[in-house]
Amino acid sequence: MKQTIKTQRLLLRPVELSDATEIEGYFNDWEIIKWLSTAVPWPYPKGGTLNHIKDMIPLENVYMFAIVLKSSNQVIGNIRFTILKDRNTIYAERGFSLSREHHSKGYMNEASLAATKFIFNNTDAKEIRACNALENVASRKIKEKTKLCVSRNKNSKRTLPWWLYSRRNMGIKERGFSKKT
Ligand SMILES: CC(C)(COP(=O)(O)OP(=O)(O)OC[C@H]1O[C@@H](n2cnc3c(N)ncnc32)[C@H](O)[C@@H]1OP(=O)(O)O)[C@@H](O)C(=O)NCCC(=O)NCCS
Repeated sequence: MKQTIKTQRLLLRPVELSDATEIEGYFNDWEIIKWLSTAVPWPYPKGGTLNHIKDMIPLENVYMFAIVLKSSNQVIGNIRFTILKDRNTIYAERGFSLSREHHSKGYMNEASLAATKFIFNNTDAKEIRACNALENVASRKIKEKTKLCVSRNKNSKRTLPWWLYSRRNMGIKERGFSKKT
């Protein structure tokens, strides 16, 4: 079930092909891409976002949300979860980015918390996994604030620790919220 999530200032809605130009407008920026997996090419190819969205939309295990500012209807970021399975569990890999002009206003804290709760409540994912470059303080703070804890280190050039978000960390029971949150 891919649906729109509302927060105080944002709408998180399933990404559409028509979002590609707006997303690429802020995403084609080394200050954003330098923090991402080396799977993201640099220099970033023109039209790369449209191709990426085209690939993502049909995948049932991918939840890719456009982050839209309610006040202006502008797409300012995106957050994506890919539901995967390993020997031990079903988990969601999470990645996000936000237009540089909208950094440091608390938008990703707001978006990531709401979207992560949605994933726990609407999919079979038991964990969220995300990696973080050591120097990427803003992203690390979001993970810390939303109760992620380091699960294991995966050494690579640009990304270092993997972080693990468990339902228990968030006080979320299997399918549904704990009253304690
Ligand atoms: C990571 C990113 C999404 C953060 O979004 P954001 O909306 O600016 O984050 P927030 O405003 O919610 O801020 C998160 C925290 O980081 C802090 N912060 C933001 N930029 C910072 C910086 N350059 N240095 C230190 N702290 C910073 C904020 O003050 C805030 O701290 P607080 O919660 O204690 O107040 C955004 O910086 C981004 O798109 N970066 C490039 C892509 C990226 O790094 N993706 C994640 C890969 S793991």
